[in-house]
Amino acid sequence: MSELKSNQGEQAPQASSGTRLLPRITVQAFCEKSQTAQLVESTLSDRRMAKVALTTHNGGLEGAIETYRANPTPNLLMIETTLPPEQIPDALEQLAEFCDPGTKVIVLGHVNDVVLYRHLIRTGVSEYIVLPTEADTFVSAIVELFASQDAEPIGRTIGFVSAKGGSGSSTIAHNSAWAAAQSLQQQVLIVDMDMAYGTAGLNFNQDPPYGIADAVFAKEKLDTVMLDRLISKAASNINLLAAPGTLEQVYDFDEGDFEQIIELVQTTIPLIVLDIPHLWCGWVRRTLSTLDEIVIVAEPDLANLRNAKSMVDTIKSMRPNEPDPLLVLNRVGLPKRPEIASAEFASAIECTLVGEILFDAALFGTAANNGQMIAEVSSGNKVNEAFLKISDRVTGRSRPESEARARGIGLTSLMNMLKRA
Ligand SMILES: Nc1ncnc2c1ncn2[C@@H]1O[C@H](COP(=O)(O)OP(=O)(O)O)[C@@H](O)[C@H]1O
Ligand SMILES: [Mg+2]
Repeated sequence: MSELKSNQGEQAPQASSGTRLLPRITVQAFCEKSQTAQLVESTLSDRRMAKVALTTHNGGLEGAIETYRANPTPNLLMIETTLPPEQIPDALEQLAEFCDPGTKVIVLGHVNDVVLYRHLIRTGVSEYIVLPTEADTFVSAIVELFASQDAEPIGRTIGFVSAKGGSGSSTIAHNSAWAAAQSLQQQVLIVDMDMAYGTAGLNFNQDPPYGIADAVFAKEKLDTVMLDRLISKAASNINLLAAPGTLEQVYDFDEGDFEQIIELVQTTIPLIVLDIPHLWCGWVRRTLSTLDEIVIVAEPDLANLRNAKSMVDTIKSMRPNEPDPLLVLNRVGLPKRPEIASAEFASAIECTLVGEILFDAALFGTAANNGQMIAEVSSGNKVNEAFLKISDRVTGRSRPESEARARGIGLTSLMNMLKRA
């Protein structure tokens, strides 16, 4: 058996400088041996792990497969296995079936085998670490994956924008962000880009002293340390870059003013929800061109239809290689209002309808006035299922039919899911 040459035990160059803090990721380790679990847990005393939420579980690969049949996977999975090398790929294939997009996997094995190593890396596993080892090997591997110079930014960006002011994009953005934070149990950042009138602070009953305006006016001075100070906590797993919501100054931005902020937040938080105001200007257009997913929130009337159509056409032509924008119809069924039928609306603007939310003045009014999410005001309400469906779709947890059909059969395609960013 050929030996795997590794740098285990050595510190990565960035890590040894002590400067590379890991982002706010979730890590779950499934161990077979209690010594391994202890070793994984001991990584928490490393300061690079300060913002990482790590849990260890028993049961190794089998335990992980059982767990993730029904639960979302974290940003990083560490799996210990004592299986013989030839059985590991098949067992991992079963696990891959339940892995959410963006989840990375580190396998902790007891066999030093370069053939197995190469095979695992080729099929999407991020790292194979041979046990026994030291805690620092784990931390260095995690830093390499999530905080090194060549690590892909971890943050998935999702923009919500209304087809017409007041259609409810902020409300849908905040409630969908809440649904994602609760269901995925991952850190979510809401960026309220509506400087003068933004409602994210109000909707979460927060009045933080700093927020997005400080970030954008800091320009080049903004770094992750400063960003951390500007972000406030709004609820469990929900972080906020709140808008000032005042008219003390005017907010005229250059086209690229938000670019650096978005790039920076992507290195520190796995899910970023941008609450974009209903404006058409350089920085809105530029922001829309860079996001992973865009959700257009519209009411089912003619003005919304006209605007949504312009937005969809423009966004599609501006970013032909990115996912098409998605549609949420909101405030549907407003008493006495003549409305355009949902299917007709979606097909007229050639956009996939991912949610339809009924008008409910009492429910939404109570939530807004209390500074609460709908799920807090009325946890059993069916509308929460719609928010969950939107969040599942934009976070990539549920995939469109066509894609679902295309994936599956064969090790490589299944394992590719592990690689999805
Ligand atoms: N489905 C709904 N039923 C009733 N009221 C709603 C609904 N969705 C949003 N609202 C209310 O509509 C108003 C405008 O919503 P908001 O999210 O601020 O819109 P936008 O961000 O598109 O301007 C808010 O008062 C909000 O509480
Ligand atoms: Mg708004």
